[in-house]
Amino acid sequence: MAGLTHIAIDGPAGSGKTTVARALAKRLGILYLDTGAMYRAVALAALEDGVPVDDEAAIVRLARSKPVGVVPDPAAPEGSRIYLGEREIGAELYRNQVSTIVSVVAAYPAIRELMVERQREIARTAPVVMAGRDIGTVVLPEASVKIFLTASVEARVERRLAELAAEGAHVDRLELRTQMVERDHLDANRSISPLKPAADAIQIDSTELSVDEVVERVAAAVRSAAAG
Ligand code: DC
Repeated sequence: MAGLTHIAIDGPAGSGKTTVARALAKRLGILYLDTGAMYRAVALAALEDGVPVDDEAAIVRLARSKPVGVVPDPAAPEGSRIYLGEREIGAELYRNQVSTIVSVVAAYPAIRELMVERQREIARTAPVVMAGRDIGTVVLPEASVKIFLTASVEARVERRLAELAAEGAHVDRLELRTQMVERDHLDANRSISPLKPAADAIQIDSTELSVDEVVERVAAAVRSAAAG
């Protein structure tokens, strides 16, 4: 994969990584991929088919029989069109029920293997800004620039509430906070590919920064990496 620009942006929910990754990819004129959408697709399939989320073997069977398809498309909000089997999916990925169970699904090693394989396949063919939890550590360890984006829990809750309100959804602040902290805990403490900064990641705390300011800092890191 050497020679292609790969930018890894990792961080917890609400840290702004998807917004920043999307804006950066647009600025650089390269592909963007939100890998969280792929894990969400598996969780959605489990909900739709009534597969219990704690039945690991059944979840893995389901992911094999209804594979998550990813077709790069700069016009799509996740940077790609996401399919479950033959069916394209979109806003359903962000349903509250999906958010509640997705961390459990994402902790299963065989599920991660399937998703990581597809993510690397995409990176082999094109320069990409990839957002997730394990991009700098596992998926693209040789990425030219690795960013680990954080923000206070309060800031992350407020951002997510604003996003949901913009979609016309109103969620209880305390409930959202509890869910976010729980998800962070599961993501950071799972045995495989836990959420953590790569040793060579640049850490940015976005609590007090605007999206533009974060994008500018990341773009500066990309310029300096390109200058060698
Ligand atoms: O970024 P998000 O909230 O859409 O991610 C959904 C879930 O998927 C989240 O619980 C963490 C998990 N995830 C992961 O384990 N690895 C990734 N590369 C991306 C997301």
